[in-house]
Amino acid sequence: MVGMQIADVRDEIDHELVSSTQIHDKIAEVAAQVSKDYADGDVLLVAVLKGAVNTLAAFSQALSIPAQLDFMSLSSYGAGTVSSGTITVRQDLSADVTGRNVLIVEDIVDSGRTLSWLVAELKGRGAASVEVFALLEKPSRREVEVDVKYKGYDIPDEFVVGFGLDYDERFRNLDSIAVLKSEVYQGGQA
Ligand code: PRP
Repeated sequence: MVGMQIADVRDEIDHELVSSTQIHDKIAEVAAQVSKDYADGDVLLVAVLKGAVNTLAAFSQALSIPAQLDFMSLSSYGAGTVSSGTITVRQDLSADVTGRNVLIVEDIVDSGRTLSWLVAELKGRGAASVEVFALLEKPSRREVEVDVKYKGYDIPDEFVVGFGLDYDERFRNLDSIAVLKSEVYQGGQA
């Protein structure tokens, strides 16, 4: 194995939650289903920067159908802060989604506000269909109902990092999902 693993950041990690093998097994399972569901190949994968990049890269490579990739950067609010519920576009898609079958690829659904807004936005732009794959969900944090068709792992409400998820822009390149030691983020903000 190469790349950053828990052993490389052991002092800051409490425990592993989802292993690299579990992540890639789940992504392969979902990709096989998506490859069947979009057998005509007309699928536009949309990732929300930055956290979803790792999931998008692995997922797109696990598909057996051609897929187009696009990215959006949305305003966000840090974990532990109160959401204003307002989402703004920092960087828009390059693709016109009119008439396209869009599959949003997310690393995590927390309150559901980002996804709820994005699904409505893309439907409003005239997408033929909008579905969601989320690698992780925190059901206990959900504030807004969102239909996640392709599900990964439900996780508890803990401060998780890795495989795209960060603390202060760190740990995104960790190969698994892990719980951060509380002393690392106490007094800080994601
Ligand atoms: C995370 C994640 C989702 C969003 C989910 O992004 O990637 O986009 O939060 O939260 P919600 O369900 O409460 O809306 P974040 O804002 O941390 O930005 P990042 O991906 O750049 O780290």
